[in-house]
Amino acid sequence: MKVLITGITGFAGSHLADLCLSRGDVEVCGIWRWRSRTENIAHCVEKFCMYECDVRDASSVRDAIEELRPDWIFHLAAQSFVPTSWRAPTESLTTNVLGQLNVFEAVKKLGLKTRIQIAGSSEEYGMVYENELPIKETNPLRPLSPYAVSKVAQDMLAYQYFMSFRLDVVRTRGFNHTGPRRPPVFVCSDFAKQLVDVERGKKSPVIRVGNMEATRDFTDVRDIVRGYWLALEKGKPGEVYNICSGQGRKISEVLDMLIELSGVKVEVVKEECRFRPSDVPVLVGDNSKFVKETGWKPLIPFEQTLKDLLEFWRKEE
Ligand code: GDD
Repeated sequence: MKVLITGITGFAGSHLADLCLSRGDVEVCGIWRWRSRTENIAHCVEKFCMYECDVRDASSVRDAIEELRPDWIFHLAAQSFVPTSWRAPTESLTTNVLGQLNVFEAVKKLGLKTRIQIAGSSEEYGMVYENELPIKETNPLRPLSPYAVSKVAQDMLAYQYFMSFRLDVVRTRGFNHTGPRRPPVFVCSDFAKQLVDVERGKKSPVIRVGNMEATRDFTDVRDIVRGYWLALEKGKPGEVYNICSGQGRKISEVLDMLIELSGVKVEVVKEECRFRPSDVPVLVGDNSKFVKETGWKPLIPFEQTLKDLLEFWRKEE
C-alpha cells in the first residue's frame, strides 16, 4: 500500500511518517515545499519518496497526485498556529482551505479511489459552554479565530465532497497534542524550552506565559498519529471523529508539571503579547465514538510526554 502524507516535514507529519515506516508494509511518500525545514525527517528521509509541491498550487498538487497515485492520503499540510491566523488570516485560510480543495479536485479529476484523512481540530468547537462538556462530534461549531474558521471550512468541504462526489473522506478532529519535535511557539513546547534554557543558564529564571486559565485536552502526538492511521483503516467514509484523551488540564497545571519535572526554581511572568484577541476557554473531548469504531486509546501518559519534550529540548543545540 502507498500512502501520501502532506505536511510530512511538520510535527505530526514526521511522527506519522515514523509510524508508517515502522509497519514495514507501507510505501511512504511526502510532499514538501522547497523552503520547508526538514530537520523533523532528517533521520528517515532516505526511506521514503519526497515530491516537491505546494498545496496552494493546484497544478503542482495535481502533478504530485497523478505521479504518486496513493491509496491513502493523510492531509496534514496546514498553517497550524492560532495566533498567526490573526496576523495573517488570508495566508491561513488560503493554505488550509484552498490547499485541501486542490487535493480533492486532483483526486476527483484523476478518478482515483484514494481514502483521504482530513485533520480537523478541536478549535472548530470554539466557544463551548460548561453544560456542553465533554464535547461530542455533534456539538455546535462556534470558531473563535481565523484558524478555527479555516478548520471548520476544511471539515465542511470534506463533508460536501463526500456527499456530492462520494469522495472517500474521513474527518478527524484532533484535540491538543504535543511531544518531541513540537515547535516552541506552542504552549507545552514553549514552556519546556524556556525551562531547559534556564537549566543551561542560557536565560534568567523567568518563564514568560500567556493565558493560564484556559483548559485543554492533551494527547501525545504519537498516540494522535496512531489515531490518524486507524481513522483510515477503520473509520467510515464521510464520518467525523474526535481524537482526544478526554482529560482536561488547565495551562497553569501543565506549567506546574513541567517545572516539577525540570526541578529548576523560576518566577512566572505574564506577558501581554502572549494573550489572544479571543481564546477558547475550555476544550475537553468525548472520544467514545472513535474508541468504539476503531479500538483506539491513548497509551502514553501525559507526564511521560512532558518528560520526552524536556529531553528533546535538552538534546537540541
Ligand atoms: N502558544 C502559547 N504560548 N500558548 C499559551 C501561552 C504561551 O505562552 N500561555 C498560555 N497559552 C494558552 C493559549 O492561550 C491557549 O489557550 C493554550 O495555551 C494552548 O495554546 P497552543 O499550544 O498555542 O495551542 P492551541 O490550543 O491554540 O492550538 C493547538 O491545538 C489545536 C487543537 O485544539 C494547535 O496545535 C492547533 O493547530 C490545533 O488545531
